[in-house]
Amino acid sequence: MLGVIGGTGLSQIKGFEPAGYNHVATPFCETKIEVELLQHRGCKIAFLRRHGGKHTIPPHKVNYQANIWALHKLGVDKIVGVNAVGSINEKLVPGCLAVPDQIIDYTHGRAATYFEETLKTVVHIDFTRPFAETLRLALLDSANITNVKSSDNRLVMNGGVYGCTQGPRLETAAEVNKYKRDGCDLLGMTAMPEAVLARELQIDYALLALSVNWAAGQFEGEISMDDISKVVGNSKDFVTDLLRALVEKYGEC
Ligand code: HPA
Repeated sequence: MLGVIGGTGLSQIKGFEPAGYNHVATPFCETKIEVELLQHRGCKIAFLRRHGGKHTIPPHKVNYQANIWALHKLGVDKIVGVNAVGSINEKLVPGCLAVPDQIIDYTHGRAATYFEETLKTVVHIDFTRPFAETLRLALLDSANITNVKSSDNRLVMNGGVYGCTQGPRLETAAEVNKYKRDGCDLLGMTAMPEAVLARELQIDYALLALSVNWAAGQFEGEISMDDISKVVGNSKDFVTDLLRALVEKYGEC
């Protein structure tokens, strides 16, 4: 089954029928993880709200271990992580999307592995290519289909380096310059450790990143939450249409 982890701006997926809720116990917290089941043309998906039902959990406090574990327990074998990001690459004008192919992890203090206990042998998983290529290509194809249907013609960048920052604050201009020199195209706060935990449980994982602002210092002025909300508002339908297109063409029902 396909799982979708929705972040800022994706608390509902329009056009899917509700098919109930699961509250999944995990070894990582006392509270159960809420996963909504949604259905489209007979195909079920599992939808998890990364920041909680009321959008109150900040990026550094998300229980990534519990979230990925819960999806795995429900039989999810592919995850699309939807992320709001800030753009460094000048092609990625806010409102555009990207399906990155690399990550640099700048986070700290997050529980980033399931292999924490003393094991018979230490496990080092391969993470050369952090995203599942088949799922990445399916997302790009679904984005093209949605562009044609909506005649929006949004740029959907194939590839790019996602720099994962700690948050919840946005970056300083100097930090963004450093991330730019490192080769980052876009910055978000939640792809790590989500991507690596999925890899450890052998779940295919890919990111759909929606640019909602220019990263700090890449334009005159400051980043305003109002401007971000406007971009999110104008892009929500495109993202949900894309997810429907993905399920229509690639869903295993
Ligand atoms: N930086 C990091 N994360 C973000 C940004 C940003 O500018 N915008 C949305 N998420």
